[in-house]
Amino acid sequence: MDQHYRYYRDVFAERPMPFAFVDLDRFDRNADTVLRRAGRMPVCLASKSIRCAPLLKRLQARSPRFHSILAYSACEAVFLCNQGFDNIIVAYPVWSEARTSGIADMVRAGKTLALMVDCAEHADYLEALGRETQTVIPVCMDVDMSSAYPRLHFGVLRSGITTPAQALALWEHIRGCDHLRLDGVMGYEAQIAGVQDAPPASFLKNQLVRTLKQRSIRELAARRGAVVHALREAGCGLRFVNGGGTGSIESTIAEEVVTEVTVGSGFYSPALFDHYTQFRHEPAAAFAIEIVRQPAPTTYTCQGGGYVASGAAGADKLPRPWLPEGAKLTANEGAGEVQTPIIYAGTEPLSLGAPIFMRHAKAGELCERFNTLLLVSNGEIVDEVNTYRGEGLCFL
Ligand SMILES: Cc1ncc(COP(=O)(O)O)c(C=O)c1O
Repeated sequence: MDQHYRYYRDVFAERPMPFAFVDLDRFDRNADTVLRRAGRMPVCLASKSIRCAPLLKRLQARSPRFHSILAYSACEAVFLCNQGFDNIIVAYPVWSEARTSGIADMVRAGKTLALMVDCAEHADYLEALGRETQTVIPVCMDVDMSSAYPRLHFGVLRSGITTPAQALALWEHIRGCDHLRLDGVMGYEAQIAGVQDAPPASFLKNQLVRTLKQRSIRELAARRGAVVHALREAGCGLRFVNGGGTGSIESTIAEEVVTEVTVGSGFYSPALFDHYTQFRHEPAAAFAIEIVRQPAPTTYTCQGGGYVASGAAGADKLPRPWLPEGAKLTANEGAGEVQTPIIYAGTEPLSLGAPIFMRHAKAGELCERFNTLLLVSNGEIVDEVNTYRGEGLCFL
């Protein structure tokens, strides 16, 4: 008997599948774990890893330290402003979207917003928008936080701003723009925050990843410190210095210049966050698919289920069978568009119409597959809330 499986099976008895859900008891504990891991530092919520306004609200109601939001598009930032949120950084550069989203109206209405720049062209484009709309647009400088090792680019390809000299040159350019104000600096160390260092059965690789991470953390702390000091010495009054992600909280908050750490995935804690040495959050979001055929004694084929995560394609981007414990995907079919066979040889009796509970590899992308999230607490469904998709919104 699998008690854990039975808990959710009974909670959702009679619910037509597929559906997605968040276990609020776990979600809230994850929120507290994030706050504890972040020490006293304010936490910026990475909305791309949540994609559900009521759950963003729940986090902000839980602690004033969840004080800002890292959005992923200008339209999303405007949507969030209209929902009553404030203090939002758009984390990725936008071009025509900056013009069409209505972001200048929000700035003029008094919302605290910042758009991302990492080159003079970004600044010039936003300067023209500011001029047209008679608005001073706050911007945030994205500083590259990757490490270049021989034959290995350890990190993501984002900004071209890597040195204090480059940051100062962009700051001089922004200073020359009458309709821009440099409001903050952001650097996202994806290779620390988003790369697991303790997956099972990869002992040597894990050792290598940990060594590279330690080396990269030292390099980045020196780089971020040098960039921020150079900007401050040049007279730039930065309102915030943002860094990190779920997997890097400890090293990001240790940097003296950082004023807020970003966290998103740590609240749902999807499959790609299961194996880190420094922390363990609880799986809090999942989806259920229904067994509709049984082609062999230990094979249970479910309807749908093929919710594969973005990024470099690989088996780690497949959804992971969660409950009953021991359920597995097949190598041949993986998780399919219309059907997903599950191999299960455990003791929990399964029959047609029973659920298999799956976890997405990533956090927010689950919400692009479902209009609502069922919210569970203490053995009951306590609410059903719209995802962005359920609001009829699709930002990217
Ligand atoms: C700019 C930026 N900051 C922070 C994060 C970290 O978010 P999470 O905690 O979901 O890993 C991300 C995720 O991709 C990001 O793009």
